[in-house]
Amino acid sequence: MYVRVGILTGGGDCPGLNAVIRAVVRKGELVHGDTLVGFLDAWDGVMERRTVELNVSSLRGMLPKGGTLLGTRRGSPYDHADGLERVQATFQDMGLDALVVIGGNGSLSVACKLHEELGLPIVGVPKTIDNDVVGTDMTFGFNTAVQIATDAIDRLHTTAESHDRVMVVEVMGRHSGWIATYAGIAGGATAILIPEEPFDIEAVCELLRNRHERGRYASIVVVAEGAEPKEGSMRARDKVYDQFGHVRLGGVAETIANAIEDRTGFETRMVLLGHIQRGGTPTAFDRVLSTRYGVAAIDAVHQQAWGHMVVLRGDVVTTAPLSDTVGRTRPVDMHLYHQVAEVFFG
Ligand code: F6P
Repeated sequence: MYVRVGILTGGGDCPGLNAVIRAVVRKGELVHGDTLVGFLDAWDGVMERRTVELNVSSLRGMLPKGGTLLGTRRGSPYDHADGLERVQATFQDMGLDALVVIGGNGSLSVACKLHEELGLPIVGVPKTIDNDVVGTDMTFGFNTAVQIATDAIDRLHTTAESHDRVMVVEVMGRHSGWIATYAGIAGGATAILIPEEPFDIEAVCELLRNRHERGRYASIVVVAEGAEPKEGSMRARDKVYDQFGHVRLGGVAETIANAIEDRTGFETRMVLLGHIQRGGTPTAFDRVLSTRYGVAAIDAVHQQAWGHMVVLRGDVVTTAPLSDTVGRTRPVDMHLYHQVAEVFFG
């Protein structure tokens, strides 16, 4: 039986969003005979009924495009007094049978709440370069961000070696150090600092001094934006918040680079990769993962797997309850960090 399906993209963008939308639309339209409609600017579009018709021909050429053709926003219907009523009215007035929410922890938690409180027929798709959604082995966008960070580190090695410098490279990773750990391993980092484990700046300096004693004068320190110093070891930065109450991160590398230069006397520079990691075309891996997620999401709609999201377990795409994600973030595999990454520190 064909259905009318809405799609939205929420939270920070990431490479592969358009590939997911394309896959949902392709299988929905051609296999199930569905009608698909995109909501613009995440939940704002649902509340304000700003939509765009989606079909196979309108999505031509979108597979390799970064960003999201639907636009994205942070925030949710819960931020508005009449938000829930407006969402319900949109479902009724538009005759929506299902909504596919492509988002990270924030959007998926909102989707879960709307499903549980209003009984809305919602299916989720986990997205974020941070790879920190509980329930799936991998979010799409992560692989691309790791590749971008690794390419940057490769380039930084040669300039660091020419000048005998320490380079502190800051990557994204608000709660989890997945990008830092993967890119740090792939890029041969001297140290990797992650949010899961407060760092001791003196221990980092000691690694660098030992390296110098061995005649290795160039070093790369990779730091996740959410990494924090051990209490009392170094002055932490003052916290700045955005309009949604999230701490605005970015800049820890500068504090660390200054501390390293002050304590060791080694010339140090810092590089903040920032949103470069979220922009541009997805890797082949992410195009495939996004496509598999999109196909699985429209199938989940037809199985009426409401309140579930599509997830990767091993090499299999299956579904898991959206409630798995609520109020939680998925930390780095500490075995990978301690037993693999750390072997190459110093
Ligand atoms: O998508 C998650 C993330 O990449 C975090 O790592 C980062 O802190 C945040 O987005 C920044 O997003 P924005 O600048 O869009 O608010």
